[in-house]
Amino acid sequence: MNYHQSRYDEPLIFEIEEGEPIKVPNYPIKDNMIPKNLKRKGLDIPTLSEESVVRHYTRLSQMNYGIDTGFYPLGSCTMKYNRKVMEEIAGWREVTNVHPYQDDAAVQGSLEIMYRLQRMLCEIGGVDAVTLQPAAGAQGEFTGLLITRAYHELNGEKRNEVILPDSSHGTNPASAVMAGYDVVEIPSKAGCVDLEALSSAVSKDTAVLMLTNPNLLGLFEKDVVRISKLLHDHGALLYYDGANLNAIMGITTPGKMDFDIVHFNLHKTFGTPHGGGGPGGGPLGVKKHLEKFLPIPSVEYNGSKYHLDYDRSHSIGKIKGFYGNFNVLVKAYVYIKLMGSDGLKEVTERAVLNANYLKARLEKHFDIPFKNHRKHEFVVDGSKLKERGLRTLDLAKRLLDYGFHAPTIYFPHLVEEAMMIEPTETESKETLDDFVDAMIKILNEDVELVKNAPYNTSVRRVSEVEAARNLILSMRMYEK
Ligand SMILES: Cc1ncc(COP(=O)(O)O)c(C=O)c1O
Repeated sequence: MNYHQSRYDEPLIFEIEEGEPIKVPNYPIKDNMIPKNLKRKGLDIPTLSEESVVRHYTRLSQMNYGIDTGFYPLGSCTMKYNRKVMEEIAGWREVTNVHPYQDDAAVQGSLEIMYRLQRMLCEIGGVDAVTLQPAAGAQGEFTGLLITRAYHELNGEKRNEVILPDSSHGTNPASAVMAGYDVVEIPSKAGCVDLEALSSAVSKDTAVLMLTNPNLLGLFEKDVVRISKLLHDHGALLYYDGANLNAIMGITTPGKMDFDIVHFNLHKTFGTPHGGGGPGGGPLGVKKHLEKFLPIPSVEYNGSKYHLDYDRSHSIGKIKGFYGNFNVLVKAYVYIKLMGSDGLKEVTERAVLNANYLKARLEKHFDIPFKNHRKHEFVVDGSKLKERGLRTLDLAKRLLDYGFHAPTIYFPHLVEEAMMIEPTETESKETLDDFVDAMIKILNEDVELVKNAPYNTSVRRVSEVEAARNLILSMRMYEK
């Protein structure tokens, strides 16, 4: 594909100086149309015409890359293509115009969607109860860890350690520390949990083991039943990082694997894009023995009416304003209804097939550690690139010139020069083949050409160090 991104010298919206705005005849806002008491004084935002604003953001969008532009194999992020019908329904007035302070009787439809979604997620996760409140995977983790603490405390125990494999996602240790726990990291063996290392790490101080299964190398933890037993025998809980359910939906559940707690990233598997900069959803599910600790309120049904229930004996309280990001919940509900249980199973089968097809084609040209089959993703070891004076970063940048978003790179840390690839179920064989062809082509390109890529993007290579060290997060910082 011949790929070129638009390139504009686009100023910040604060810097736009417009001449006399074009007068759109049928759209005049006269000064006296806004009541005096509603006029804001001293609000420091740009005053621009509609056309300037629309053009500004359209130009920015043309300089961007998204799933609507092309393939986005960002490992661990599940950048699948989401059908527009979900956005459309989430934009309906009935969805956008409800207010969380409305009486239960006035929002029966919204409560019904939430209640049904809770039940659907229970079935998908193999758990007994779900809260829809958390707004992200990481917030789901944090909520799960607060519940873990509440559970042990009610049993009269003070357990202060969270065990994590070295392949775990970065949010796991971050959530554990935020919840006041000490992190005990255990090494992997052949890419999976090392049972011996786990046995020596588990003790009466262990509160919970957090596990992603399949893990971030795309490998299924085949010893998961032994792992669950070991933890439970020590009185500890098991937390399933279900940020990505694309590899197990309809085939098995965290509940069947004997996990006590699981979070779901709706903004990955269920109808909302991950990393889209918009709101997310990280519902949390638990088995029966932990239900009483879930945040309040829950959405309940008494056989004729839906209502918000604040009566939960040992609730950890509220962890987010109101009841979660409602439009994300609606999209998840529509997604699950559209797919049906057979469809969800097919998503899994196809995601796994796509990952293994890509792996099979790429392993003829790249080192891919751990030879066995993968689930939804796999990690390439790019260390051989160094022999040619190249790095994984260079290959990732050059891929942009061919119109592909780069895979996740340098993560997980246990693979050198890692390139983590997750194709998802929504990509065709042709797209996967084009991606492999581009990867192989880059291997045979001139080193200097690759090192200076990208060329066809709106922004060329930025300094990684500057970008990480000198963050500019506000207009004030920018002006300084
Ligand atoms: C395995 C895993 N766990 C947790 C998370 C955290 O999710 P969020 O970004 O919504 O906080 C992610 C996000 O990519 C993930 O891939």
